[in-house]
Amino acid sequence: MPNLVPLYGKDKKIFATTDGSFSFFNLTFNEAYRAKSVGAYSESLYKFVLASEIVEKLKISSVRLLDICFGLGYNLAITLNEALKTDATNILDITSLEIDKEVVELVKNSLIFFPYKGYSLLKDLITSGIKNNFRLNIVYGDASKTLFSLKNNFDIIFFDPFSKSKNPEMWNINIYKRLYTLLSDDGVVVTYACSKKIRREFEEAGFKTYPTPNLPKDFQPGTILRK
Ligand SMILES: C[S@@+](CC[C@H](N)C(=O)[O-])C[C@H]1O[C@@H](n2cnc3c(N)ncnc32)[C@H](O)[C@@H]1O
Repeated sequence: MPNLVPLYGKDKKIFATTDGSFSFFNLTFNEAYRAKSVGAYSESLYKFVLASEIVEKLKISSVRLLDICFGLGYNLAITLNEALKTDATNILDITSLEIDKEVVELVKNSLIFFPYKGYSLLKDLITSGIKNNFRLNIVYGDASKTLFSLKNNFDIIFFDPFSKSKNPEMWNINIYKRLYTLLSDDGVVVTYACSKKIRREFEEAGFKTYPTPNLPKDFQPGTILRK
């Protein structure tokens, strides 16, 4: 029986998630970028974009966002899409960390992702780095190292590596302490992780942890971290 699922690049297989948005399975990490169960679009919208209140903050002032890791770009495209629905003109300055150049090329060259306006702007930003009040700098390399060369403080951090078993270099106290240092005093980190152990480790690094509010039923909880 031939394999009818096309392989994108060296290691990525596409599949549809519950809300109709597409995700990929990464054969190198042996994990999906977004799980099928709640939907790729929905998970980013609720656990990252709405949970961080990034668009509300952008209406009031400029926002510096640290996006760990870029992946399929859902967290960023949905942020941009929601921002475009407002008349906010404050600067959204994004630094995104990603180890895999191929996945960024995939996003740049694909027409399969929605929301359309958010992805259209994200593709422009991948190419040119700046458009209107939006800025994007993608830092390629191992984020467990590049995190330590960043100089800015950030108002919001999206913490979205693969799971601890697949990405152990990203889930340890040294990384959590670095996030604490990089976060502004009234900033927020949002992540899909919710295990007691991981929350306890974040607390050891200095954070206060809270379950992600306002999730639709059937969602696994996520976590919000504050100083
Ligand atoms: C769950 S996906 C990110 C999903 C993404 N935030 C989105 O909204 O679509 C995890 C990403 O982490 C990247 N990654 C894994 N290990 C990394 C590392 N050590 N440094 C930087 N990126 C890494 C993978 O290449 C993958 O793109």
